[in-house]
Amino acid sequence: MKTDVSNRLVWLGGEIINVNNAKINVLSPTSQFGLNVFEGIRCYWSKEIQQLYAFRLMDHFTRLKRSQKLLMIEDKYSLIELKEAFLDTIRANDYKEDIVVRQTIFIDGFGSWASVESANMFIAPIPKANTSAEYIKKGLNCCISSWQRINDNSLSPRIKCGANYINSRMAQREALRNGYDTTIILNKDGKVSEGPGSCLFIIKDGILITPVLTDSVLESITRATVIQIAKELLGIEVIERSIDRTELYTCDEAFLCGSSMEITPIYSVDRYDISGGSAGELTTKIHKIYLDIVTGKVEAYMEWLTPVYV
Ligand SMILES: Cc1ncc(COP(=O)(O)O)c(C=O)c1O
Repeated sequence: MKTDVSNRLVWLGGEIINVNNAKINVLSPTSQFGLNVFEGIRCYWSKEIQQLYAFRLMDHFTRLKRSQKLLMIEDKYSLIELKEAFLDTIRANDYKEDIVVRQTIFIDGFGSWASVESANMFIAPIPKANTSAEYIKKGLNCCISSWQRINDNSLSPRIKCGANYINSRMAQREALRNGYDTTIILNKDGKVSEGPGSCLFIIKDGILITPVLTDSVLESITRATVIQIAKELLGIEVIERSIDRTELYTCDEAFLCGSSMEITPIYSVDRYDISGGSAGELTTKIHKIYLDIVTGKVEAYMEWLTPVYV
């Protein structure tokens, strides 16, 4: 029977327990210094097939392990263990709806910001209805952040760790304070990097353009998905290159993408209008295909989906 949200079951230290009993030491390095790496993994419920599908699960775990390696966090869980624990947690809750699963490896116990042990993990499912459908009605009005994106020589955006989100937080809070929905952050060279929790694409003369991975962006799974969909299913040319700020003001369409955002159109940047206050044609096509793929409607991409229930 499905567990209600306030009593949902989470995985912590090898046990599946009620979320209210899941406790972490206040003196642990994760609590004091944000010493953790994590993934937000989307699962989509297909009514037609009566199945919950995790999207690109092993790609998330590969990135998790790379983040872990870069922060030199003890390598405690194999890919198989990460997967089994993930599936066990969702099955224990019996969720048959769209969810996002937060899978976090952190440094527990008493230690400092330089500790490499003791690694621990929690896995928490969070019910989450399809978000981009809401944004389609509203669209995003963005600004360019006055904050600079972290870079590979300071705090690498390639690492998906809690501490990196402080840079995103500064940028997002500034945007909200100034009446925008979200923001686009420039890198140390003044080139476009990404949003606080999403990657960016622009469309110019029918070509899809996105910043290169070395321009201070997370190696986003949705970004890679969009590139593949555009090339293979829509026959659109995709270019990965540095993008100037002024290209954002003059592009034909733009969108942010990420596991959480899915594909979300941008309506304006710094009050410069883009695509007349509605989602552009190509953005709409990519968005629809993306939702079809994640919900198991496109046979050719079923290998990206892991069925949760047997
Ligand atoms: C800074 C940043 N960029 C991009 C993304 C999108 O990554 P993904 O598509 O793997 O969810 C995220 C989301 O985690 C993010 O935090």
